[in-house]
Amino acid sequence: MPDHPVITIDGPAASGKSSVARLVAQRRGAIYVNTGNMYRAMTWAVLDRQIDPADAEAVRQATAVVEIQSPVVAGQTVVQVNGIPLTDADLNSDPVNRAVSHVARVPEVRDRLVAAQRALAALGPLVMEGRDIGSVVFPNSPLKFYIDASEEVRSARRRAQGHADQVAERDRLDSTRKTSPLVIPQGAVVIDNSHLTLEQAVEQVLERLPSP
Ligand code: CDP
Ligand code: CDP
Repeated sequence: MPDHPVITIDGPAASGKSSVARLVAQRRGAIYVNTGNMYRAMTWAVLDRQIDPADAEAVRQATAVVEIQSPVVAGQTVVQVNGIPLTDADLNSDPVNRAVSHVARVPEVRDRLVAAQRALAALGPLVMEGRDIGSVVFPNSPLKFYIDASEEVRSARRRAQGHADQVAERDRLDSTRKTSPLVIPQGAVVIDNSHLTLEQAVEQVLERLPSP
């Protein structure tokens, strides 16, 4: 059975990718996949085991026995660590925000999560968002988007959500890492939604998709 089509959405922290991806998936009857939550779940497991997230070798060893599952519930994947579901509060806590870009730099962590992400395309059409979806996970997808917004707007959006998240620092780490850095994927449509409503940003994606 050939894999189903994947709409890829990448972009920096708090640019609006998750909100846009979720709505595009709903309107196109596709499964929404938030890959950031998979890296966040690995990070939660690292912190739970009292491992220093900046110690790449310790992270590599500790995560080798951590299984991340992504069952589909109500049209979107939810993450589990060794079978235990995590809450949004677990995934978006301040310690996870601070540590996640360190854990996501470890090549073995990325290799395992990328393989799991590719396997999801067997389930049905996907809208998958993250940092390397159009560049590394599904580089051959013809439906690639890069959702951007200014740093000021992104920090303000995160604050409005009640999170004390250092988005600029995460962007710096994500853009400068050796393995799969955040880039605008080749062939991606760039949408700067600094001055767009969420609905307008969703429309800009939908109008570039082939009719269903
Ligand atoms: O929602 P937000 O943009 O704040 O972040 P996220 O998508 O939940 O991703 C959290 C972190 O996971 C990012 O800062 C990256 O370090 C990492 N990540 C990644 O390396 N590759 C992905 N495909 C998705 C996330
Ligand atoms: O997934 P990512 O971290 O890129 O961003 P998000 O969690 O989807 O969006 C961060 C916040 O910005 C959410 O509260 C969105 O509703 C809001 N947002 C907005 O106000 N206007 C937009 N054009 C896009 C997102």
